Amino acid sequence: MPTVLIIDDNAAVAIALDVLFSLHEIDAVRAASPEEGLQLLERHAIDLVVQDMNFTADTTSGEEGGALFHAIRARYPDLPVILLTAWTQLDAAVDLIKSGAADYLAKPWDDRRLIASVQNLLELGQANRALRQRVVAEQRQRHALEHDFDLRGMVWQDPATERVVHLACQVARADVPVLISGPNGSGKERIAAIVQANSQVAGGPFVVLNCGAVPVELIEAELFGAEAGAYTGITRARDGKFDAADGGTLFLDEIGNLPLAGQMKLLRVLETGRFERLGSNRERQVKVRVISASNADLPAMIKAGTFREDLFYRLNVIELRLPPLAQRLLDILVLARYFLGGEKTLDAQAQATLLAHGWPGNVRELKNVMQRASLLTPGPVIGAQETGLPLAGVASPRAPQDGAATEPDRDSVTAALARAHGVVAQAAQELGLSRQALYRRMERLGIARG
Ligand SMILES: Nc1ncnc2c1ncn2[C@@H]1O[C@H](COP(=O)(O)OP(=O)(O)OP(=O)(O)O)[C@@H](O)[C@H]1O
Ligand SMILES: [Mg+2]
Repeated sequence: MPTVLIIDDNAAVAIALDVLFSLHEIDAVRAASPEEGLQLLERHAIDLVVQDMNFTADTTSGEEGGALFHAIRARYPDLPVILLTAWTQLDAAVDLIKSGAADYLAKPWDDRRLIASVQNLLELGQANRALRQRVVAEQRQRHALEHDFDLRGMVWQDPATERVVHLACQVARADVPVLISGPNGSGKERIAAIVQANSQVAGGPFVVLNCGAVPVELIEAELFGAEAGAYTGITRARDGKFDAADGGTLFLDEIGNLPLAGQMKLLRVLETGRFERLGSNRERQVKVRVISASNADLPAMIKAGTFREDLFYRLNVIELRLPPLAQRLLDILVLARYFLGGEKTLDAQAQATLLAHGWPGNVRELKNVMQRASLLTPGPVIGAQETGLPLAGVASPRAPQDGAATEPDRDSVTAALARAHGVVAQAAQELGLSRQALYRRMERLGIARG
Protein backbone atom coordinates (compact mmCIF):
# COMPACT_ATOMS: atom_id res chain seq x y z
CA MET A 1 0.00 0.00 0.00
CA PRO A 2 1.29 3.48 -0.79
CA THR A 3 2.02 5.78 2.15
CA VAL A 4 1.19 9.47 2.43
CA LEU A 5 2.76 11.77 5.03
CA ILE A 6 0.37 14.40 6.40
CA ILE A 7 2.12 17.41 7.97
CA ASP A 8 -0.40 19.65 9.72
CA ASP A 9 -0.47 21.11 13.24
CA ASN A 10 -4.25 21.02 13.32
CA ALA A 11 -5.09 17.55 14.68
CA ALA A 12 -8.66 17.68 13.34
CA VAL A 13 -7.39 18.28 9.80
CA ALA A 14 -4.78 15.55 10.07
CA ILE A 15 -7.30 13.00 11.37
CA ALA A 16 -9.85 13.87 8.69
CA LEU A 17 -7.21 13.35 6.00
CA ASP A 18 -6.04 10.12 7.60
CA VAL A 19 -9.59 8.72 7.56
CA LEU A 20 -10.15 9.87 4.00
CA PHE A 21 -6.98 8.13 2.82
CA SER A 22 -7.69 4.92 4.70
CA LEU A 23 -11.08 4.75 2.95
CA HIS A 24 -9.13 4.69 -0.30
CA GLU A 25 -6.60 2.08 0.83
CA ILE A 26 -3.81 4.58 1.27
CA ASP A 27 -1.67 4.42 4.41
CA ALA A 28 -1.05 7.70 6.23
CA VAL A 29 1.52 8.87 8.77
CA ARG A 30 0.94 12.13 10.64
CA ALA A 31 3.31 14.85 11.75
CA ALA A 32 2.27 17.96 13.68
CA SER A 33 5.28 20.12 12.81
CA PRO A 34 7.75 20.59 9.97
CA GLU A 35 10.58 19.10 12.09
CA GLU A 36 8.58 16.00 12.89
CA GLY A 37 7.62 15.70 9.24
CA LEU A 38 11.24 15.75 8.09
CA GLN A 39 12.13 13.14 10.74
CA LEU A 40 9.33 10.84 9.58
CA LEU A 41 10.53 11.20 5.99
CA GLU A 42 13.90 9.82 7.05
CA ARG A 43 12.37 6.84 8.81
CA HIS A 44 9.53 5.80 6.48
CA ALA A 45 9.21 5.06 2.79
CA ILE A 46 6.85 7.89 1.86
CA ASP A 47 5.27 8.14 -1.57
CA LEU A 48 3.63 11.55 -1.25
CA VAL A 49 3.39 14.48 1.18
CA VAL A 50 0.31 16.57 1.98
CA GLN A 51 1.44 19.64 3.93
CA ASP A 52 -0.08 22.66 5.59
CA MET A 53 1.28 26.18 4.99
CA ASN A 54 1.20 27.56 8.56
CA PHE A 55 2.26 25.91 11.78
CA THR A 56 2.55 28.57 14.44
CA ALA A 57 -0.83 29.69 15.72
CA ASP A 58 -0.27 33.37 15.01
CA THR A 59 1.26 33.18 11.56
CA THR A 60 -0.67 33.23 8.34
CA SER A 61 2.06 34.24 5.89
CA GLY A 62 2.70 30.74 4.58
CA GLU A 63 6.44 31.23 5.07
CA GLU A 64 6.79 28.16 7.26
CA GLY A 65 5.03 26.07 4.67
CA GLY A 66 7.34 27.43 1.97
CA ALA A 67 10.42 26.63 4.02
CA LEU A 68 9.14 23.12 4.71
CA PHE A 69 8.40 22.56 1.04
CA HIS A 70 11.92 23.68 0.02
CA ALA A 71 13.49 21.47 2.69
CA ILE A 72 11.58 18.43 1.40
CA ARG A 73 12.39 19.32 -2.19
CA ALA A 74 16.11 19.63 -1.45
CA ARG A 75 16.22 16.20 0.19
CA TYR A 76 13.72 14.28 -1.97
CA PRO A 77 13.51 16.03 -5.34
CA ASP A 78 11.17 13.43 -6.85
CA LEU A 79 8.73 13.23 -3.97
CA PRO A 80 5.37 14.78 -4.89
CA VAL A 81 4.09 17.41 -2.44
CA ILE A 82 0.50 18.67 -2.25
CA LEU A 83 -0.06 21.98 -0.42
CA LEU A 84 -3.11 22.64 1.72
CA THR A 85 -3.63 26.33 1.96
CA ALA A 86 -6.05 28.99 3.07
CA TRP A 87 -7.78 31.03 0.39
CA THR A 88 -5.83 34.06 1.49
CA GLN A 89 -2.50 32.44 0.62
CA LEU A 90 -3.17 31.15 -2.84
CA ASP A 91 -0.43 33.39 -4.24
CA ALA A 92 2.22 31.75 -2.09
CA ALA A 93 0.98 28.32 -3.13
CA VAL A 94 1.06 29.22 -6.81
CA ASP A 95 4.69 30.34 -6.38
CA LEU A 96 5.51 26.96 -4.87
CA ILE A 97 3.82 25.17 -7.77
CA LYS A 98 6.27 27.02 -10.01
CA SER A 99 9.09 25.63 -7.86
CA GLY A 100 7.78 22.11 -8.37
CA ALA A 101 5.00 21.44 -5.87
CA ALA A 102 2.65 18.89 -7.41
CA ASP A 103 -0.68 20.52 -6.55
CA TYR A 104 -2.46 22.76 -4.04
CA LEU A 105 -5.92 22.72 -2.51
CA ALA A 106 -7.63 25.51 -0.65
CA LYS A 107 -9.11 24.66 2.73
CA PRO A 108 -11.77 23.46 3.12
CA TRP A 109 -10.74 21.02 0.45
CA ASP A 110 -12.93 18.95 -1.81
CA ASP A 111 -12.38 15.29 -0.86
CA ARG A 112 -12.92 13.98 -4.34
CA ARG A 113 -10.45 16.39 -5.89
CA LEU A 114 -7.85 15.67 -3.26
CA ILE A 115 -8.15 11.89 -3.67
CA ALA A 116 -8.05 12.17 -7.46
CA SER A 117 -4.88 14.25 -7.27
CA VAL A 118 -3.24 11.91 -4.74
CA GLN A 119 -4.10 8.79 -6.72
CA ASN A 120 -2.92 10.36 -9.96
CA LEU A 121 0.42 11.34 -8.43
CA LEU A 122 0.92 7.95 -6.76
CA GLU A 123 0.23 6.17 -10.02
CA LEU A 124 2.63 8.43 -11.86
CA GLY A 125 5.36 7.83 -9.31
CA GLN A 126 4.86 4.11 -9.71
CA ALA A 127 4.99 4.32 -13.50
CA ASN A 128 8.16 6.41 -13.37
CA ARG A 129 9.81 4.02 -10.93
CA ALA A 130 8.95 1.07 -13.18
CA LEU A 131 10.32 2.96 -16.17
CA ARG A 132 13.56 3.78 -14.37
CA GLN A 133 13.94 0.16 -13.34
CA ARG A 134 13.40 -0.95 -16.90
CA VAL A 135 15.91 1.54 -18.28
CA VAL A 136 18.50 0.36 -15.76
CA ALA A 137 17.82 -3.30 -16.58
CA GLU A 138 18.09 -2.57 -20.30
CA GLN A 139 21.37 -0.73 -19.83
CA ARG A 140 22.72 -3.61 -17.80
CA GLN A 141 21.74 -6.12 -20.48
CA ARG A 142 23.29 -3.94 -23.16
CA HIS A 143 26.58 -3.58 -21.28
CA ALA A 144 26.66 -7.34 -20.78
CA LEU A 145 26.11 -7.88 -24.51
CA GLU A 146 28.83 -5.40 -25.43
CA HIS A 147 31.21 -6.93 -22.94
CA ASP A 148 30.62 -10.57 -23.83
CA PHE A 149 30.19 -10.45 -27.61
CA ASP A 150 31.61 -8.94 -30.76
CA LEU A 151 28.69 -6.89 -32.07
CA ARG A 152 30.31 -5.92 -35.38
CA GLY A 153 29.48 -2.25 -35.06
CA MET A 154 25.73 -2.91 -34.96
CA VAL A 155 23.91 0.22 -33.89
CA TRP A 156 20.51 0.08 -32.15
CA GLN A 157 18.33 1.52 -29.44
CA ASP A 158 15.01 -0.20 -29.97
CA PRO A 159 14.12 -3.15 -27.73
CA ALA A 160 12.85 -5.07 -30.79
CA THR A 161 16.33 -4.90 -32.34
CA GLU A 162 17.95 -5.70 -29.04
CA ARG A 163 15.95 -8.94 -28.86
CA VAL A 164 17.28 -9.99 -32.28
CA VAL A 165 20.89 -9.08 -31.39
CA HIS A 166 20.57 -10.90 -28.09
CA LEU A 167 19.22 -14.04 -29.73
CA ALA A 168 21.91 -13.88 -32.45
CA CYS A 169 24.61 -13.85 -29.75
CA GLN A 170 22.94 -16.68 -27.87
CA VAL A 171 22.74 -18.99 -30.87
CA ALA A 172 26.10 -18.03 -32.33
CA ARG A 173 28.10 -20.61 -30.40
CA ALA A 174 25.73 -23.50 -31.04
CA ASP A 175 26.27 -25.25 -34.33
CA VAL A 176 22.72 -24.86 -35.61
CA PRO A 177 21.54 -23.36 -38.87
CA VAL A 178 20.21 -19.83 -38.53
CA LEU A 179 17.74 -18.17 -40.87
CA ILE A 180 17.63 -14.39 -40.78
CA SER A 181 14.47 -12.90 -42.19
CA GLY A 182 13.53 -9.30 -42.71
CA PRO A 183 12.77 -6.82 -45.47
CA ASN A 184 15.32 -5.27 -47.84
CA GLY A 185 18.06 -3.29 -46.20
CA SER A 186 16.93 -4.06 -42.65
CA GLY A 187 20.38 -5.24 -41.56
CA LYS A 188 20.27 -9.00 -42.16
CA GLU A 189 23.89 -9.09 -43.22
CA ARG A 190 24.94 -7.28 -40.04
CA ILE A 191 23.15 -9.90 -37.96
CA ALA A 192 24.83 -12.66 -40.00
CA ALA A 193 28.18 -11.04 -39.23
CA ILE A 194 27.37 -11.07 -35.50
CA VAL A 195 26.49 -14.77 -35.60
CA GLN A 196 29.72 -15.51 -37.49
CA ALA A 197 31.96 -13.38 -35.30
CA ASN A 198 30.76 -15.07 -32.11
CA SER A 199 30.65 -18.62 -33.44
CA GLN A 200 33.14 -21.38 -32.78
CA VAL A 201 34.40 -20.96 -36.34
CA ALA A 202 34.92 -17.21 -36.06
CA GLY A 203 38.55 -17.69 -37.10
CA GLY A 204 37.54 -19.58 -40.24
CA PRO A 205 36.56 -18.11 -43.59
CA PHE A 206 33.34 -16.08 -43.97
CA VAL A 207 32.02 -16.65 -47.46
CA VAL A 208 28.98 -14.87 -48.85
CA LEU A 209 26.82 -15.95 -51.76
CA ASN A 210 23.93 -13.76 -52.79
CA CYS A 211 21.62 -16.21 -54.51
CA GLY A 212 19.66 -13.31 -55.93
CA ALA A 213 22.64 -11.78 -57.70
CA VAL A 214 23.80 -14.89 -59.58
CA PRO A 215 21.97 -16.09 -62.70
CA VAL A 216 19.80 -19.05 -61.73
CA GLU A 217 21.66 -21.47 -63.98
CA LEU A 218 24.99 -20.62 -62.36
CA ILE A 219 23.98 -20.82 -58.70
CA GLU A 220 24.71 -24.52 -58.35
CA ALA A 221 28.17 -24.12 -59.87
CA GLU A 222 28.80 -21.19 -57.53
CA LEU A 223 27.74 -23.21 -54.51
CA PHE A 224 29.25 -26.60 -55.21
CA GLY A 225 31.92 -25.91 -57.85
CA ALA A 226 32.18 -27.48 -61.29
CA GLU A 227 34.52 -29.64 -63.28
CA ALA A 228 35.90 -28.33 -66.55
CA GLY A 229 33.34 -28.79 -69.30
CA ALA A 230 30.51 -29.42 -66.84
CA TYR A 231 28.55 -27.01 -68.94
CA THR A 232 29.14 -24.40 -71.58
CA GLY A 233 31.55 -21.70 -70.59
CA ILE A 234 33.33 -23.67 -67.86
CA THR A 235 36.77 -24.36 -69.22
CA ARG A 236 38.59 -24.96 -65.94
CA ALA A 237 37.58 -26.82 -62.81
CA ARG A 238 36.54 -24.40 -60.13
CA ASP A 239 35.88 -24.51 -56.41
CA GLY A 240 32.45 -23.69 -55.09
CA LYS A 241 31.55 -21.60 -52.08
CA PHE A 242 31.21 -24.71 -49.92
CA ASP A 243 34.87 -25.55 -50.57
CA ALA A 244 35.88 -21.97 -49.83
CA ALA A 245 33.89 -21.91 -46.59
CA ASP A 246 35.23 -25.23 -45.25
CA GLY A 247 36.01 -24.77 -41.56
CA GLY A 248 34.09 -21.52 -41.46
CA THR A 249 30.79 -19.92 -42.31
CA LEU A 250 28.78 -19.72 -45.51
CA PHE A 251 26.24 -16.93 -45.66
CA LEU A 252 23.54 -17.64 -48.22
CA ASP A 253 21.71 -14.41 -48.91
CA GLU A 254 18.33 -14.33 -50.65
CA ILE A 255 17.99 -18.06 -50.24
CA GLY A 256 14.53 -17.92 -51.80
CA ASN A 257 16.21 -17.53 -55.19
CA LEU A 258 17.85 -20.94 -55.05
CA PRO A 259 16.28 -23.21 -57.71
CA LEU A 260 14.70 -26.51 -56.63
CA ALA A 261 17.58 -28.69 -57.83
CA GLY A 262 20.04 -26.60 -55.83
CA GLN A 263 17.73 -26.74 -52.84
CA MET A 264 17.88 -30.54 -52.86
CA LYS A 265 21.67 -30.52 -52.99
CA LEU A 266 21.83 -27.92 -50.26
CA LEU A 267 19.61 -30.03 -48.02
CA ARG A 268 22.00 -32.93 -48.47
CA VAL A 269 25.09 -30.88 -47.56
CA LEU A 270 23.32 -29.59 -44.49
CA GLU A 271 22.47 -33.12 -43.41
CA THR A 272 25.67 -34.95 -44.32
CA GLY A 273 28.28 -32.31 -45.12
CA ARG A 274 28.70 -34.09 -48.48
CA PHE A 275 28.24 -32.89 -52.04
CA GLU A 276 29.64 -33.30 -55.56
CA ARG A 277 30.86 -30.71 -57.98
CA LEU A 278 28.83 -30.28 -61.14
CA GLY A 279 30.06 -32.78 -63.68
CA SER A 280 31.73 -35.00 -61.11
CA ASN A 281 30.77 -38.09 -59.14
CA ARG A 282 33.45 -37.68 -56.52
CA GLU A 283 31.98 -36.84 -53.15
CA ARG A 284 33.51 -33.98 -51.24
CA GLN A 285 33.17 -33.50 -47.50
CA VAL A 286 33.16 -30.15 -45.74
CA LYS A 287 32.33 -28.70 -42.36
CA VAL A 288 30.50 -25.43 -42.87
CA ARG A 289 28.26 -23.38 -40.64
CA VAL A 290 25.42 -22.15 -42.82
CA ILE A 291 23.61 -18.90 -42.14
CA SER A 292 20.88 -18.00 -44.57
CA ALA A 293 18.83 -14.90 -45.09
CA SER A 294 15.66 -14.11 -46.95
CA ASN A 295 13.34 -11.22 -47.53
CA ALA A 296 10.91 -13.49 -49.38
CA ASP A 297 7.91 -15.09 -47.75
CA LEU A 298 9.31 -18.63 -47.67
CA PRO A 299 6.17 -20.24 -46.18
CA ALA A 300 4.19 -18.80 -49.12
CA MET A 301 6.81 -20.18 -51.52
CA ILE A 302 6.41 -23.59 -49.89
CA LYS A 303 2.66 -23.43 -50.53
CA ALA A 304 3.35 -22.43 -54.13
CA GLY A 305 5.74 -25.38 -54.49
CA THR A 306 8.81 -23.26 -55.22
CA PHE A 307 10.61 -23.83 -51.93
CA ARG A 308 11.21 -27.20 -50.27
CA GLU A 309 9.53 -27.53 -46.92
CA ASP A 310 12.16 -29.94 -45.58
CA LEU A 311 14.93 -27.48 -46.48
CA PHE A 312 13.00 -24.65 -44.83
CA TYR A 313 12.78 -26.53 -41.53
CA ARG A 314 16.43 -27.48 -41.80
CA LEU A 315 17.54 -23.85 -42.34
CA ASN A 316 15.06 -22.42 -39.93
CA VAL A 317 16.10 -24.18 -36.72
CA ILE A 318 16.59 -20.69 -35.33
CA GLU A 319 14.84 -17.77 -36.97
CA LEU A 320 16.10 -14.26 -36.36
CA ARG A 321 13.42 -11.91 -37.59
CA LEU A 322 14.37 -8.28 -38.13
CA PRO A 323 11.34 -5.99 -38.13
CA PRO A 324 11.13 -3.20 -40.74
CA LEU A 325 12.87 0.00 -39.63
CA ALA A 326 9.55 1.83 -39.34
CA GLN A 327 8.63 -0.59 -36.57
CA ARG A 328 11.87 0.08 -34.71
CA LEU A 329 11.20 3.74 -34.01
CA LEU A 330 13.91 4.12 -31.40
CA ASP A 331 16.56 2.96 -33.89
CA ILE A 332 15.91 5.68 -36.45
CA LEU A 333 17.66 8.64 -34.83
CA VAL A 334 20.61 6.71 -33.39
CA LEU A 335 21.24 5.18 -36.81
CA ALA A 336 20.84 8.57 -38.49
CA ARG A 337 23.45 10.07 -36.13
CA TYR A 338 25.72 7.10 -36.70
CA PHE A 339 25.56 7.59 -40.47
CA LEU A 340 26.32 11.31 -40.06
CA GLY A 341 29.49 10.33 -38.25
CA GLY A 342 29.29 13.17 -35.73
CA GLU A 343 29.99 15.82 -38.33
CA LYS A 344 26.49 17.24 -38.61
CA THR A 345 23.38 17.26 -36.48
CA LEU A 346 19.66 17.14 -37.25
CA ASP A 347 17.29 19.89 -36.19
CA ALA A 348 14.02 19.02 -34.46
CA GLN A 349 11.98 19.23 -37.65
CA ALA A 350 14.38 16.95 -39.52
CA GLN A 351 14.20 14.45 -36.66
CA ALA A 352 10.40 14.50 -36.74
CA THR A 353 10.49 14.00 -40.50
CA LEU A 354 12.76 10.96 -40.18
CA LEU A 355 10.50 9.48 -37.51
CA ALA A 356 7.38 10.02 -39.59
CA HIS A 357 8.76 8.44 -42.78
CA GLY A 358 7.71 4.88 -43.72
CA TRP A 359 11.21 3.66 -44.73
CA PRO A 360 10.36 1.13 -47.44
CA GLY A 361 14.12 0.71 -48.01
CA ASN A 362 14.81 0.40 -44.28
CA VAL A 363 18.32 1.06 -42.91
CA ARG A 364 19.89 1.19 -46.35
CA GLU A 365 17.48 3.95 -47.34
CA LEU A 366 18.24 5.82 -44.13
CA LYS A 367 21.94 5.57 -44.82
CA ASN A 368 21.46 7.00 -48.32
CA VAL A 369 19.18 9.78 -47.08
CA MET A 370 21.76 10.79 -44.48
CA GLN A 371 24.61 10.78 -46.98
CA ARG A 372 22.60 12.91 -49.36
CA ALA A 373 21.44 15.31 -46.67
CA SER A 374 24.98 15.69 -45.42
CA LEU A 375 26.20 16.60 -48.89
CA LEU A 376 23.36 19.05 -49.49
CA THR A 377 23.80 20.87 -46.18
CA PRO A 378 26.63 23.38 -46.16
CA GLY A 379 26.32 24.21 -42.46
CA PRO A 380 26.51 21.92 -39.41
CA VAL A 381 22.73 21.51 -38.90
CA ILE A 382 20.55 19.47 -41.26
CA GLY A 383 16.97 20.66 -41.65
CA ALA A 384 13.87 18.78 -42.77
CA GLN A 385 14.18 20.13 -46.33
CA GLU A 386 17.59 18.59 -46.79
CA THR A 387 16.36 15.11 -45.95
CA GLY A 388 14.46 15.20 -49.23
CA LEU A 389 11.64 13.30 -47.50
CA PRO A 390 7.99 14.34 -47.60
CA LEU A 391 7.41 16.69 -44.69
CA ALA A 392 4.32 14.63 -43.79
CA GLY A 393 2.50 17.41 -41.95
CA VAL A 394 4.82 17.31 -38.99
CA ALA A 395 4.28 20.47 -37.06
CA SER A 396 7.10 21.65 -34.89
CA PRO A 397 7.36 19.10 -32.11
CA ARG A 398 7.93 21.96 -29.69
CA ALA A 399 4.23 22.65 -29.44
CA PRO A 400 3.02 25.99 -28.17
CA GLN A 401 1.20 25.82 -24.87
CA ASP A 402 -1.85 27.87 -25.65
CA GLY A 403 -5.06 26.37 -26.89
CA ALA A 404 -6.20 22.91 -27.86
CA ALA A 405 -5.96 23.61 -31.58
CA THR A 406 -2.18 23.46 -31.34
CA GLU A 407 -2.02 20.24 -29.30
CA PRO A 408 0.87 18.05 -30.45
CA ASP A 409 -0.26 15.33 -32.82
CA ARG A 410 0.68 11.67 -32.81
CA ASP A 411 3.87 12.21 -34.86
CA SER A 412 5.14 14.95 -32.57
CA VAL A 413 4.43 12.87 -29.49
CA THR A 414 6.15 9.73 -30.80
CA ALA A 415 9.02 11.87 -32.06
CA ALA A 416 9.49 13.52 -28.67
CA LEU A 417 9.26 10.16 -26.89
CA ALA A 418 11.84 8.67 -29.20
CA ARG A 419 14.20 11.59 -28.67
CA ALA A 420 13.74 11.19 -24.90
CA HIS A 421 14.36 7.43 -25.20
CA GLY A 422 10.90 6.80 -23.80
CA VAL A 423 11.42 8.89 -20.66
CA VAL A 424 7.99 10.50 -20.39
CA ALA A 425 9.02 13.33 -18.10
CA GLN A 426 11.66 14.49 -20.56
CA ALA A 427 9.38 14.22 -23.58
CA ALA A 428 6.69 16.14 -21.68
CA GLN A 429 9.14 18.93 -20.93
CA GLU A 430 10.11 19.19 -24.56
CA LEU A 431 6.47 19.33 -25.63
CA GLY A 432 5.69 21.95 -23.01
CA LEU A 433 3.21 19.65 -21.26
CA SER A 434 2.94 18.30 -17.74
CA ARG A 435 3.67 14.62 -17.35
CA GLN A 436 0.03 13.95 -16.56
CA ALA A 437 -1.08 15.79 -19.67
CA LEU A 438 1.32 13.79 -21.80
CA TYR A 439 0.13 10.51 -20.26
CA ARG A 440 -3.44 11.50 -21.03
CA ARG A 441 -2.54 12.42 -24.59
CA MET A 442 -0.65 9.14 -25.06
CA GLU A 443 -3.70 7.28 -23.84
CA ARG A 444 -5.93 9.19 -26.26
CA LEU A 445 -3.57 8.58 -29.17
CA GLY A 446 -3.17 4.90 -28.28
CA ILE A 447 0.57 5.21 -27.65
CA ALA A 448 1.79 2.56 -25.22
CA ARG A 449 3.53 3.75 -22.07
CA GLY A 450 7.29 3.28 -22.26
N1 LIG B 1 21.86 -1.78 -37.01
C1 LIG B 1 22.75 -1.35 -37.90
N2 LIG B 1 23.84 -0.68 -37.50
C2 LIG B 1 24.71 -0.20 -38.39
N3 LIG B 1 24.59 -0.34 -39.72
C3 LIG B 1 23.54 -1.00 -40.18
C4 LIG B 1 22.56 -1.55 -39.30
N4 LIG B 1 21.62 -2.16 -40.04
C5 LIG B 1 21.98 -2.01 -41.30
N5 LIG B 1 23.12 -1.32 -41.42
C6 LIG B 1 23.77 -0.92 -42.68
O1 LIG B 1 22.73 -0.68 -43.61
C7 LIG B 1 23.01 -1.26 -44.87
C8 LIG B 1 21.98 -2.33 -45.18
O2 LIG B 1 22.10 -3.40 -44.25
P1 LIG B 1 22.27 -4.92 -44.70
O3 LIG B 1 23.02 -5.05 -45.96
O4 LIG B 1 22.75 -5.69 -43.53
O5 LIG B 1 20.73 -5.23 -44.95
P2 LIG B 1 20.07 -6.52 -45.55
O6 LIG B 1 18.88 -6.80 -44.72
O7 LIG B 1 21.09 -7.59 -45.68
O8 LIG B 1 19.61 -6.01 -46.98
P3 LIG B 1 19.20 -6.86 -48.31
O9 LIG B 1 17.84 -7.41 -48.05
O10 LIG B 1 19.18 -5.82 -49.36
O11 LIG B 1 20.24 -7.89 -48.47
C9 LIG B 1 24.41 -1.80 -44.75
O12 LIG B 1 25.30 -0.78 -45.18
C10 LIG B 1 24.57 -2.05 -43.27
O13 LIG B 1 25.91 -2.01 -42.90
MG1 LIG C 1 21.71 -8.49 -47.44
